Amino acid sequence: MPTSNPTAAELIARSNRLGADPKNTNYAGGNTSAKGTETDPVTGEPVELVWVKGSGGDLGTLKESGLAVLRLDRMRALVDVYPGIEREDEMVAAFDYCLHGKGGAAPSIDTAMHGLVDAAHVDHLHPDSGIAIATAADGEALTKEIFGDRVVWVPWRRPGFQLGLDIAAIKEANPQAVGCILGGHGITAWGETSEESERNSLWIIDTAAAYIAEHSSAEPFGPALEGYAALPEDERRARAAALAPTIRGIASADRPMVGHFTDASVVTDFLAAAEHPRLAELGTSCPDHFLRTKVKPLVLDLPPTASVEESVARLKELAVAYREDYRGYYERNATPDSPAIRGADPLIVLVPGVGMFSFGKDKQTARVAGEFYVNAINVMRGAEGLSTYAPIDEAEKFRIEYWALEEAKLQRMPAPKPLATRIALVTGAASGIGKATAQRLAAEGACVVIADLDLAKAEAAAAEIGGPDVAVGVGADVSDAAAVQAAVDAAVLAFGGVDLVVNNAGLSLSRSLLETTEKDWDLQHDVMAKGSFLVTQAAARAMIAQEMGGDVIYISSKNSVFAGPNNVAYGAAKADQAHQVRLLAAELGAHGIKVNGVNPDGVVQGSGIFSGGWGANRAEVYGVEEKDLGKFYAQRTILKREVLPSHIANAVFALCGPDLTHTTGLHVPVDAGVAAAFLR
Ligand SMILES: NC(=O)c1ccc[n+]([C@@H]2O[C@H](COP(=O)([O-])OP(=O)(O)OC[C@H]3O[C@@H](n4cnc5c(N)ncnc54)[C@H](O)[C@@H]3O)[C@@H](O)[C@H]2O)c1
Ligand SMILES: [Zn+2]
Repeated sequence: MPTSNPTAAELIARSNRLGADPKNTNYAGGNTSAKGTETDPVTGEPVELVWVKGSGGDLGTLKESGLAVLRLDRMRALVDVYPGIEREDEMVAAFDYCLHGKGGAAPSIDTAMHGLVDAAHVDHLHPDSGIAIATAADGEALTKEIFGDRVVWVPWRRPGFQLGLDIAAIKEANPQAVGCILGGHGITAWGETSEESERNSLWIIDTAAAYIAEHSSAEPFGPALEGYAALPEDERRARAAALAPTIRGIASADRPMVGHFTDASVVTDFLAAAEHPRLAELGTSCPDHFLRTKVKPLVLDLPPTASVEESVARLKELAVAYREDYRGYYERNATPDSPAIRGADPLIVLVPGVGMFSFGKDKQTARVAGEFYVNAINVMRGAEGLSTYAPIDEAEKFRIEYWALEEAKLQRMPAPKPLATRIALVTGAASGIGKATAQRLAAEGACVVIADLDLAKAEAAAAEIGGPDVAVGVGADVSDAAAVQAAVDAAVLAFGGVDLVVNNAGLSLSRSLLETTEKDWDLQHDVMAKGSFLVTQAAARAMIAQEMGGDVIYISSKNSVFAGPNNVAYGAAKADQAHQVRLLAAELGAHGIKVNGVNPDGVVQGSGIFSGGWGANRAEVYGVEEKDLGKFYAQRTILKREVLPSHIANAVFALCGPDLTHTTGLHVPVDAGVAAAFLR
């Protein structure tokens, strides 16, 4: 990028301010621009440029690298070669020939509007209040009524070069206007200074919002539906957790998805009102929405008083109907050169009394899809309060969803990571082997739930991996069935489901038979044998409901097969875990769930087990200094290599990754070679 230009810097600041407030635009929606001059490095003369937010990215966090920089004379010269609306998409490629220097973002479809409108600064935004007017059946009359001649109505047109020409003509014909309402879509405002453009944008947004607040009917979504009110919080969350795996399975019939859940009152209020089925069926309207939310959501048509079983059965029926309906929409609208159908599953699932589940290829995409549907609810409330909600028609929605330019963008996306969309629950992951495993799974694209005894430690380990879109921490004692269920529920509410469990929580007491107390015995067996049983049982219930297969991996031990000294309680508990692998591999295979184990040995670095006394004890048993224990273990091995937590994590990834898809009931030793623990 060239060195920062004051016009560009001013544009970034304005964009960040506008994008920071969700009332002004939806996430990654809208774009802004500024025109100014810079010295042309080729001629040394001043050159007129337009800086415009490029394709992708969000106004709130826009940086200079997110701007496309074009020469204004060349951009405007495109008007002379424009071949007409039928071939307007070709103009996007032509923008590349207008770029000023290298770097910067790719010019977006909205570049024409910014370049062609004769104003130094232009903001194109998707505010809920503005889209409410834009999608009201009498939006044109409302625009006049609310704004007089200061804001002009532009009938719906798909974004592109022609829309840019239209808006440029409107600005020229209406010198008193500060912007326009784009039917079915959003707003565009302009100004001669950056400050004036921002002021005009905010004036349109706030004036529309104030008008709606003052003139809206009392119950825009109709009267309350008997029995559809939100359940009390605890029941709501429990119901959401009980339904989540089924719903994720429904959303993942064509390809696996990550989920996001919200029970915000904006959603439950909508679902508690009489008009919600009609409005949901009408679908969303803003062009940004269709790829993220699909044209319409799936709505459970039962009140929350229905049982979980009834709700599950009905959701499955509705999913079949949704897929048929979506295929019908595709077939009605597709032309021979349309891209292939991209999957017929819902991305938004609404459950009255409970909330909204939204889906995407990763957590952030799923969360944003949910935010977009909240935008749609706000838009529908505004439009219905003043008039009748009238989104763009189905054929236009299809032209956006299956737009060749959108398809090209999707084709350019990098290939997903091997564990993308997989949701992992790793127990004991605040330390040692579990932590290394959680880190590796996240690095391979999984969403990770870190469960450990201490919530603060679990949260800290999760924060080290990334924000809540990647990893969350929960506090749970794996030997307590209720705590285990709560941890699985937390996973399901955080990411929509669970499909990869690592039973790693453990601790180790090295005692001879005569020294081992009943309490020692119980503790070892409660945490490892019973704990992994409870975790696997609760997680398997969710996995079976999802019908998406899954993986369960036990971190067992060399000591599950090797008779180590002073090891009766620990070794027997590990042998119990090892046999669970075989038993459950046999039992869960019918559901596509693989169960495998890893047998580590001598992992001293990073291990809380070793630093917490076991290491000192082992060192004494073997007659070496504690600090040399890792090296001592290495010398004992066939390969003479020290085993680190990351080596165990590698084995976990191998077992659940893309290669060992046909392996179940296996234990993988990761011990640098210990002949006495060879498996046969
Ligand atoms: N370190 C080794 O050489 C070695 C060898 C073989 C097997 N293993 C097994 O690997 C696993 C991890 O061991 P590590 O060496 O990383 O130990 P570590 O102490 O570093 O980590 C174990 C984690 O489990 C957690 N934990 C303990 N009890 C729990 C409970 N009831 N509920 C939830 N979490 C609980 C602890 O808080 C800790 O964070 C254990 O199952 C251990 O038996 C370790
Ligand atoms: Zn737009």
